[in-house]
Amino acid sequence: MKHVHIHTKAPYDVLIERGLLDSVGALIGRGLGVLRIALISDETVDRLYGERVEHSLRSAGHRVLRLTFPGGEENKTLETVACLQRAMLEGEITRSDLIVALGGGITGDVAGFAAATYLRGIRFVQIPTTLLAALDSSVGGKTGVNLMGYKNQIGAFWQPSLALCDPSVFATLTEEQYADGMAEAIKYGVAFDRGLFEMLYADHDIEEVIRRALTIKGDVVSADERDEGVRALLNFGHTVGHAIEKLTEHEFTHGQAVAVGMIVATRGALRMGYCRENFLDDLIGCITYRGLPNAVIATTEELISAMRSDKKRAGDEITLILPKRLGECCAERVPMSDLSKYFQI
Ligand SMILES: NC(=O)c1ccc[n+]([C@@H]2O[C@H](COP(=O)([O-])OP(=O)(O)OC[C@H]3O[C@@H](n4cnc5c(N)ncnc54)[C@H](O)[C@@H]3O)[C@@H](O)[C@H]2O)c1
Ligand SMILES: [Zn+2]
Repeated sequence: MKHVHIHTKAPYDVLIERGLLDSVGALIGRGLGVLRIALISDETVDRLYGERVEHSLRSAGHRVLRLTFPGGEENKTLETVACLQRAMLEGEITRSDLIVALGGGITGDVAGFAAATYLRGIRFVQIPTTLLAALDSSVGGKTGVNLMGYKNQIGAFWQPSLALCDPSVFATLTEEQYADGMAEAIKYGVAFDRGLFEMLYADHDIEEVIRRALTIKGDVVSADERDEGVRALLNFGHTVGHAIEKLTEHEFTHGQAVAVGMIVATRGALRMGYCRENFLDDLIGCITYRGLPNAVIATTEELISAMRSDKKRAGDEITLILPKRLGECCAERVPMSDLSKYFQI
């Protein structure tokens, strides 16, 4: 079993192994004792894996309140959280009990926010079932929901007590969903870890990819739990990526948009002399190999105008994450008026 220790103020472990879903009951019990557990999933994941996880939890002696909500961004709302919390109150979930978030990033965000705000905060465990959730949202403690169509407008930092990752569940993802997660793996490789990037080019051991990616995320998050400094580096490819998601009206998935965002950011870094090594062909090769798009579908003007409304923008400046070489990046504050120098498409 692979293992990553996250050194946040309240530290926790991530355990990674195929087949782990059948031992979640014992693994949770090992650290936390026998509990009453609210097991939260969206309806799709509940249908696929709910029974198995409930069985594992009950076999270890836990009592289980199995709750579902309809998935999708449109249901990542305060109403969904309130609905789950009402059911938790009726099911007599108390301060010493636990929430288990079994699902993708939406379930993790919703169930995590429910945990952060129920009785002023109860413990929760992340069991990511998408590659994106395994590589990104299950670690770091960002929880939250959308408000009036604005993404993650309401939220809290609330770290899980444990994250359990079983890569065998990725078998039921579509190719597009899997590729979406791969964009995040490529991001960690380019921005932090050349060895990880090289693994992604060839056939890879997904457990090792997740271990390396979460080791990076864990180190960055421990240094900056509340996203006030170095955590920005995790946004490589995302400033342009968010603009592309917006311009394509979400026809490009998050991972597809981030893939193009990484190419655009790397081109910008090369043009402006930040990048001392031209690895653009390798980056485009890896992105293409992983089934992600490699062409920019917007003009420079369109991109910049979409970036103007980025929520990470501060006044008239925006922070760009630019690679210096494969495996190393830097954050640069750039005036909005200079963006066209970086991004000439
Ligand atoms: N908190 C964070 O740090 C963080 C980081 C990145 C993204 N996010 C959030 O994560 C969300 C996106 O995550 P996502 O892509 O995992 O979305 P998601 O949770 O909606 O999952 C995508 C789809 O896959 C289905 N699914 C999940 N696991 C499955 C499996 N094993 N087999 C078959 N189908 C499965 C789900 O039912 C859903 O329809 C966004 O809301 C984003 O804001 C949060
Ligand atoms: Zn992302």
